[in-house]
Amino acid sequence: MSVSDWVAELREAFEAEFGTESPRIGALATVDDAGRPRVRSVVCRNVEEDGTLWVASDARSEKNREARAHPFGEIAFWLPTLREQFRVAGSLRISAMGDRRDRVWAELSDASRALFFWPPPGGPIREDAELPDRVDVSTQIPGTFELLVLKADRVDHLDLNEHPHRRRIWRADRSWAVREVNP
Ligand SMILES: Cc1cc2nc3c(=O)[nH]c(=O)nc-3n(C[C@H](O)[C@H](O)[C@H](O)COP(=O)(O)O)c2cc1C
Repeated sequence: MSVSDWVAELREAFEAEFGTESPRIGALATVDDAGRPRVRSVVCRNVEEDGTLWVASDARSEKNREARAHPFGEIAFWLPTLREQFRVAGSLRISAMGDRRDRVWAELSDASRALFFWPPPGGPIREDAELPDRVDVSTQIPGTFELLVLKADRVDHLDLNEHPHRRRIWRADRSWAVREVNP
């Protein structure tokens, strides 16, 4: 059993659900300092061959702070047309430089790049703040732009199409193993 089994399934499901243009939106959970769960919608920018998922995020945001302090996360994807759910859990680290970050910066829309030049997320509103609406790809990558890199060690897939529903859990120990479980 190799990681590519669930990676191939997730990629195929994304393709079938979202096509090539629509964002792959999931809910990313992190853990705060009080040990409480925090969750928010994010766009999955890539699923790597080795089972690593990428999310672009602001270095000043709570989720990045949480990932730095408690480096674990889980993303849940609900694919309504397919009637399938994927939950991808693992270690969550921050990439503040490197090829992967450069690539995602280049692939963002001008409007999405602009967000990283807005005032700190979650901070108080200031009337004199600058809020650009477009930032060109040639602009130097700001320090606010980081990638969250989720390296999966557990993947839970639920398929609601069958009777009974089908649920499988992949776990990475030395190698990946999958088992069928009660839904
Ligand atoms: C559809 C959708 C997609 C989003 N994608 C992202 C994303 O890829 N990265 C991100 O940092 N925030 C994204 N957001 C905003 C987050 O949900 C959240 O409001 C923001 O990142 C602040 O969260 P935090 O304070 O927990 O860090 C998205 C929101 C929506 C509604």
